[in-house]
Amino acid sequence: MALARAFASVASLTRQGESKLGFAGKAFASTTTVNGVPVEVHNEGGSKRVVVTKTLPGERWLQFLINAGCRVEVSKHPDVILSNATIKQLMGTKCDGVIGQLTEDWGSELFEALKQAGGKAYSNYAVGYNNVKVDEATKRGIPVGNTPGVLTETTAELAAALTLAAARRVPEADVFMRSGKYKGWLPSLFVGQLLQNKTVGIIGAGRIGAAYARMMVEGHKMNLVYFDPYPNKQLEDYIRLYGELLRHRGEPPVAVKRVETVEEVLKEADVVSLHCNLDASTRHLINSQRLALMKPTAVLVNAARGPCIDEAALVAHLKANPEFRCGLDVFEDEPAMKPGLADCPNAVIVPHIASASLWTRSGMATLAAANVAGILSGYPVWNKQDILGFVDKPLAAAPHAAPSIVNAKELKLKMVAE
Ligand SMILES: NC(=O)c1ccc[n+]([C@@H]2O[C@H](COP(=O)([O-])OP(=O)(O)OC[C@H]3O[C@@H](n4cnc5c(N)ncnc54)[C@H](O)[C@@H]3O)[C@@H](O)[C@H]2O)c1
Repeated sequence: MALARAFASVASLTRQGESKLGFAGKAFASTTTVNGVPVEVHNEGGSKRVVVTKTLPGERWLQFLINAGCRVEVSKHPDVILSNATIKQLMGTKCDGVIGQLTEDWGSELFEALKQAGGKAYSNYAVGYNNVKVDEATKRGIPVGNTPGVLTETTAELAAALTLAAARRVPEADVFMRSGKYKGWLPSLFVGQLLQNKTVGIIGAGRIGAAYARMMVEGHKMNLVYFDPYPNKQLEDYIRLYGELLRHRGEPPVAVKRVETVEEVLKEADVVSLHCNLDASTRHLINSQRLALMKPTAVLVNAARGPCIDEAALVAHLKANPEFRCGLDVFEDEPAMKPGLADCPNAVIVPHIASASLWTRSGMATLAAANVAGILSGYPVWNKQDILGFVDKPLAAAPHAAPSIVNAKELKLKMVAE
């Protein structure tokens, strides 16, 4: 609490903690209400109506939609998390597409309302889409977009920040300092864990897991042990080559190992970071039995999804093992925390900000808008990994495609040729 109060007084933040940078209202927008909900309207004369449930950063995303002939209505509803009823009010009786948030419940109720309003496209403003029942959209012929590729490094960096903050007890020491308790240097003051040459474990070696692994291996010469149903050959090759380089220079080499079970990672690693997607196989992947396998001085990081950890079991484990630390960006019952978590000094907790760099958040907006604009324009679906052409190229040179549609195959949408 003390830390939160201190930051609120020094940083330029709005009441909700939102940075105003890049979120400035667009000069050419007008405001109105739709079924009682205030909205900011862009390109009033556009023939297709697109609803955006939250203000998005940057300007480029808007250009994608305006160039596709869309009238864009951005909700200004004061609630942080919009209810289904509010989203249905916003969609009304004519709505061609929606850009929604991971905090919303996109299931049969909302997709039926979108379908009834003539909707042809939905994009989540996120790479993860566990809040979307994709089969309910597919049933109604609605393509669902997500925003992969622009969150990778930003999210990995926050996971690395949580790792270091937890291992070296940075928030605890910060609160101590601000509360005037520092009376001078002491050998025993906030002693934490050194990461150099230890072992980092990751569960889920996809885009973000691999980027995080490289940061920890290259930055701290850590060995890597990982579990993923699929091997990440590229990551393994990279770390082997890096190990060779170190050996060549006379330094201790680093090693990489893929193991067959989550348990093996937990037993061996000094730091374990979760980077899997949330589904039935990863819900409560970390539970009390598995926590008991971890080293008593280990650091557990979660910048994936809250329900991957049984949070009540984690609180009990943190209380019983004061040298065990965790860094959490996500929470099981977000925005709530399980009772007792906020009182654990060995937990570093931040409010789901892993993707919160301006480049990433603007890029996510661009990809979400390009998904909706691409589908409404009848463009094919981009089936290549590299999506930066949508984000960083001059607008006129951006591909004529919808960057990432997760149910493209099921809907038999046309793909861009390789
Ligand atoms: N905190 C945030 O703000 C934030 C930001 C971006 C992404 N995320 C989360 O991170 C997840 C990963 O993103 P990504 O872009 O790296 O996705 P990705 O699809 O590239 O990687 C996910 C990896 O998890 C693996 N996996 C699936 N089931 C598993 C299991 N049971 N055990 C271990 N591994 C398993 C997959 O094989 C894949 O390699 C997203 O699904 C999202 O939920 C969170």
